[in-house]
Amino acid sequence: MTELRDKYLTAIAAAPDEDALEDLRVTAVGKKGEVSLKMRELGKMTPEERQVAGPALNALKDEINSALAARKQALGDAALDERLRTEWLDVSLPARGRRQGTIHPISQVSEEVTAIFADMGFAVAEGPQIETDWYNFDALNIPGHHPARAEMDTFYMHRSADDERPPHVLRTHTSPVQIRTMQAQGAPLRIIAPGRVYRADYDQTHTPMFHQVEGLAIDRDISMANLKWTLEEFVKAFFEVDNVELRFRASHFPFTEPSAEVDIRCSWQDGTLKVGEGDDWLEILGSGMVHPKVLEAGNIDPSQWQGFAFGLGIDRIAMLKYGIPDLRAFFDSDLRWLRHYGFAGLDVPTLHGGLSR
Ligand code: DAH
Repeated sequence: MTELRDKYLTAIAAAPDEDALEDLRVTAVGKKGEVSLKMRELGKMTPEERQVAGPALNALKDEINSALAARKQALGDAALDERLRTEWLDVSLPARGRRQGTIHPISQVSEEVTAIFADMGFAVAEGPQIETDWYNFDALNIPGHHPARAEMDTFYMHRSADDERPPHVLRTHTSPVQIRTMQAQGAPLRIIAPGRVYRADYDQTHTPMFHQVEGLAIDRDISMANLKWTLEEFVKAFFEVDNVELRFRASHFPFTEPSAEVDIRCSWQDGTLKVGEGDDWLEILGSGMVHPKVLEAGNIDPSQWQGFAFGLGIDRIAMLKYGIPDLRAFFDSDLRWLRHYGFAGLDVPTLHGGLSR
């Protein structure tokens, strides 16, 4: 019995898993297990022998059963420990330093522009960045042979010769949103459309991707005077100063008649750009009265309605307002630049709270 006891207790203590334990249980105390067979022999013993062997065998059976239970418990605990160890996560680790992200000047300025025009009753409209050449050009009175197509350094989407879809371009301006909005909403309307535009151009004030805000107001009785007032109000509110000097220059765009370009007085000194003083002018927008053909392309009757439109360079006015001398740095993703020129995430620009603080 001592031999049996040692054999099983040692084996149980060493059992690697629950299957091995079950095998041991069957061979030791199962119906035909060694201990059970020994118990059957009790009948052949003398009463005296039985009195000694009976309780001893029962005790052995109990001992083996408790060793099995203990081992099972230990294996379960070990498995749980192992799982807890591999799935462990130290939630007490500090978050990554104080390195908060910042709002990019382009996003900030877009919000500022939107807040100002929203206050004047303009809603925000959107259009696709990959545009058909009809919306980007034809509908805006820029037919196929027009030099403006070449001037714009357009990016064309690659097409195989047998592709039957209409030609697509990366939109060169936000003006196609005028057409889409007229078609979708009809007149009267008052919208701005901020967004990305693309042209193959690269220097200190040009990048292949940049940002514009289109403006469009259509009603029954709108003139250049409304356009001029709206732009002056905008510029004063945006630069948060009263002494901004604007220059309206007669110009030409196929989609407006008459047309005007607007420049802002500024100076570039030692690489610093200052607005409102100096002998330089920076062009910030094109504008004019919407051409009748453009209204027609937007399914609006030019004998009933007219309107003004403008296209403003967001990046340009961001450079001017925040004294950022090189446009290319806007899109370099240099963390030092972003931390220096970025804005706090919670400073959402509003007219009542102050635009840029
Ligand atoms: N689309 C023109 C450009 O990107 C800017 C522009 C000029 C927009 C006159 C207008 C406008 O709406 O009336 O150069």
